[in-house]
Amino acid sequence: MTQKVLVVGAGGQLGQELQRTSGPAIECLPRTRTQLDITDRTAVAQCFASVEPHLVINGAAYTAVDKAESDADAAQCGNVVGPLALAQACAQQGVKLIHLSTDFVFDGRASQPYKPDAPTSPLGEYGRSKRAGELAVQSALPQAVILRTGWVYSSYGSNFVKTMLRLMQEKDDLAVVADQIGTPTWAQGLAEAVWGFAARPQLSGIYHWSDVGVCSWYDFAVAVCEEALALGLLVRPVNIRPILATEYPTPAPRPAYSVLDKTSSWRDLAVAGVHWRQQLRAMLEDYKGLQHG
Ligand SMILES: NC(=O)c1ccc[n+]([C@@H]2O[C@H](COP(=O)([O-])OP(=O)(O)OC[C@H]3O[C@@H](n4cnc5c(N)ncnc54)[C@H](OP(=O)(O)O)[C@@H]3O)[C@@H](O)[C@H]2O)c1
Repeated sequence: MTQKVLVVGAGGQLGQELQRTSGPAIECLPRTRTQLDITDRTAVAQCFASVEPHLVINGAAYTAVDKAESDADAAQCGNVVGPLALAQACAQQGVKLIHLSTDFVFDGRASQPYKPDAPTSPLGEYGRSKRAGELAVQSALPQAVILRTGWVYSSYGSNFVKTMLRLMQEKDDLAVVADQIGTPTWAQGLAEAVWGFAARPQLSGIYHWSDVGVCSWYDFAVAVCEEALALGLLVRPVNIRPILATEYPTPAPRPAYSVLDKTSSWRDLAVAGVHWRQQLRAMLEDYKGLQHG
């Protein structure tokens, strides 16, 4: 039987990759923010009534990490009020929900990968709103899957890889933070993991997903440069200098270490995960194809 899946936040990085990767057993029903604002309860109810989904995937979020520091209300609205409205509608209709969250629920003081049940302690407004959203979703719909991820990039939208590519085309020298460690996540691999959860309705609770391995933002930038040169997306190498996070102050504090432990996702989805560097190469090939497409 075909599964009708409502994808909200369909215009975002994950939302677009979900549409590209849905399999033949899925009827993917994407809704961008203009088509459905998840903070509008009436619109959510109308959408559920017309679509009658079997499953909802929430790719919508307020993701402006720095802006959230001066606009905590907007972050709470997008990341708590909206997800709660979706979870309550799902509970009423007996529909499953896959909700996305973030590594920014942790404070980054750990020195080994965070397990899904590790204590949370967000450093900024974005992380606080996403953690509050997790709790709201769980209270309204305990059978929801909450999938935390981090350092997401894709051919679509704005992200670190595309910003680096642009800066590397414009400048001869770049300084990139080397004392914040995490794992990049190609949105296409994340979308495939989400479809894995969609195919296993018996799963619920908090899971983690990123690609495999660890790096600093500096290592990530060096890899972008090397892979882009190899693919002809850059014509000359750029000098990349490692700096401390204190030399690049941002409104929102970032965790120094935000590596997620993916063991339970790999086990329950029966997948091995792919190294971040291999995924970066695949994304840049994809991006090049779309540019010349
Ligand atoms: N990007 C990352 O590095 C990262 C890291 C960790 C976790 N995550 C999480 O992963 C998920 C997907 O992230 P992403 O990178 O795909 O984000 P994204 O590219 O910023 O996409 C988010 C989408 O949500 C839409 N949206 C915002 N408020 C909405 C609302 N009230 N109703 C409906 N749609 C709304 C946005 O529309 P507009 O653009 O029109 O506002 C945008 O299309 C999010 O839950 C995010 O918190 C992301």
